[in-house]
Amino acid sequence: MADLKWWQKAVFYQIYPRSFADGNGDGIGDFPGMTAKLDYLRDLGVDAVWLSPHYPSPFLDCGYDISDYVDVGPEYGTLDDFKRFLEAAHERDIKVILDFVLNHTSDLHAWFKESRSSLDNPKRDWFIWRDGKDGGPPNNWQSLFGGSAWELDPRTGQYYYHCFLKSQPDLNWRNPEVKEAMWDVVRFWLDLGVDGFRLDAIGTIYEHPDLPPHTIPAEKLQHATAHDLADAEFRQLMTYQLHQPGVHELMQELRRVVDEYPGEKVLVGEDDNVAYHGSGDDELHLVFNFPLMLTDKLTPEHIRSNQAIRLADLPPGAWPCNTLGNHDVSRMWSRFGDGKHDAELARLHLALLLTLKGTPFLYNGEEIGMSNLKLTSLDQIRDTMATSRYAALTEEKGLNPEEALEYALRITRDRCRSPLQWDSSANSGFSPAGVETWLPVNANYRERVNVADQLNDPASTLSFYREMLKLRRNNPALIAGEYLALNPQSEEYFAFLRHEASSGQTCLVALNFSDTNQAAIFDLETSRARLLFSNRSRPDAALDLRQIDLQPFEILVAELN
Ligand code: NOJ
Repeated sequence: MADLKWWQKAVFYQIYPRSFADGNGDGIGDFPGMTAKLDYLRDLGVDAVWLSPHYPSPFLDCGYDISDYVDVGPEYGTLDDFKRFLEAAHERDIKVILDFVLNHTSDLHAWFKESRSSLDNPKRDWFIWRDGKDGGPPNNWQSLFGGSAWELDPRTGQYYYHCFLKSQPDLNWRNPEVKEAMWDVVRFWLDLGVDGFRLDAIGTIYEHPDLPPHTIPAEKLQHATAHDLADAEFRQLMTYQLHQPGVHELMQELRRVVDEYPGEKVLVGEDDNVAYHGSGDDELHLVFNFPLMLTDKLTPEHIRSNQAIRLADLPPGAWPCNTLGNHDVSRMWSRFGDGKHDAELARLHLALLLTLKGTPFLYNGEEIGMSNLKLTSLDQIRDTMATSRYAALTEEKGLNPEEALEYALRITRDRCRSPLQWDSSANSGFSPAGVETWLPVNANYRERVNVADQLNDPASTLSFYREMLKLRRNNPALIAGEYLALNPQSEEYFAFLRHEASSGQTCLVALNFSDTNQAAIFDLETSRARLLFSNRSRPDAALDLRQIDLQPFEILVAELN
């Protein structure tokens, strides 16, 4: 355990700055708000926070369209507010990593404004400009957010490439000046003392330089609606736009930049490809295990096979990283709930996340059981991925507006981005009463889905989170132990061991995903264990592992004798 790095032991907590805490009462979260909540995070028991983008941005992709990489968006405060936040976090032993959006800037970034100004501007080649073909775009590539990936710029008559929104032009990373400018950005924040970066969309950094057209049938191309990156057909469609050669070398270069700094700065890739660990210790430190998360139902079979594949695929020395929620996906409570046992299922999934081998990432609001925000009309949607796909579906693909609206409301990422619910007062204590918050507050804040009501209630979701985080912290096997699957045949419960050599501790974790009792038989060398945790009544702490009757939705953690 002693030789694990801080980011291997840490539990990360993702803050979505716009929705976390509004310090100045304008309906938008900010740094003074976040700073005031650091004690809450310390008491929750997390070790590090990842901030979604906090930079100046026109906010067309909720901050993932950056117009200045070395400043703070005015709605979030000033650079001094950021520094105060960082210092206050460090005082509480909380590390801070930032979101670094490499693939694209906002079209309002000074670099792009210069680049688009003329064909011979020195920054012209900082973005990807091409002549059109046969009166249309250079080829049939698609934007991940719907529609063509090319936008005609009338000023110079050329098209620029955008993998995401047309207001997010792709940087040309083959240009060495771009790299140097971006490494300066990295150094700027490291000089201020941040602890690392989450790297946005690294798979899209390079495109095939010859721009070969997609060869899948035109018909399919027309109907491809860019569901999401997990969609196999869509991935095929994106062949020339994703995971092109060069990303590994780029990640190695970035790694060398962060390694110039002491304190083990961490790089976390927004990608599920374990190859981005490089040889294990020369590219990214962590890469999200998205295949675990990207399902609507986590069955024991899915988890078991995910773990078997994932752990076997990791290069030697690489460390796993698990998450079940973030700002792009449906909230855990809504996604994994069945409408009847939502609270129990949410706890089971959290217990899974905190006991599997790997660094866990939590998403703000999950700790109080926040559920998806429901919107009803197009004008309520702030997420332009949803509105842009709506436009592509209705304008280019001829879908009727009702169907397209139903689709947009279903996929809008606003659902998981609503303001954090702090108490039961108006606006849930996020903003003062009467202020219009940037997204509506989910009305269930009045039904105890808020921090204040749960804080001192031992039966609350929040208390459960705190207890599980403590359990993890106090048991080296749960942090550092090797993983060993047990009882591979069960479709109802998932059980495994974690064994940590230096402390000699072995923990058994058994999670019953069903609403019925399950007789679990563990054929282990020792049959004696001591109960460390159960969410069900178990009067006897001494367990006989030859047969354990798991109760409905039971979470059982025990230490082998
Ligand atoms: C991934 C981010 O998580 C998502 O929110 C964003 O829209 C895209 N990258 C584009 O930056």
